[in-house]
Amino acid sequence: MTVLVLNGPNLGRLGVREPDVYGTATYADLVGRCEQVATDVGVEIEVRQTDAEAEMIGWLHAAADAGSAVILNAGAWTHTSIAVRDAASQLNGPLVEVHLSNVHAREAFRHTSYLSDIASAVVVGMGIEGYAAAIRYVAQG
Ligand code: DQA
Repeated sequence: MTVLVLNGPNLGRLGVREPDVYGTATYADLVGRCEQVATDVGVEIEVRQTDAEAEMIGWLHAAADAGSAVILNAGAWTHTSIAVRDAASQLNGPLVEVHLSNVHAREAFRHTSYLSDIASAVVVGMGIEGYAAAIRYVAQG
């Protein structure tokens, strides 16, 4: 099974970006943790990040065609993008929505997600460990 871990805008700046909100783990730490868990549970993994919405939509289309499991932290697009939702709706494998921070304890505009109702599972507020939990969940089938 191939698991795609797709990260949206500003997530490449983890570690330097608002560490009081997102923690001090860097994006490289996030990638390393995902690869470690994937090895532990025996799945192939690819971890990507983009600040370009069109690129994210292309990745979701390819994941739909391949039937891949997707772990998606869409960043701010979560709260704004019907286009990302429409692309994620086409997935044939499981979709897990992940957020590092507890979006429900933050500004009201972060309480709305265009993804939660089409996701198999949602993980918020666990930092990079949320990705580890999501990988274990999809690996179970
Ligand atoms: C985030 C939460 C979003 O509201 C925010 O726009 C992000 C990161 C998180 O992982 O906590 O970019 O998705």
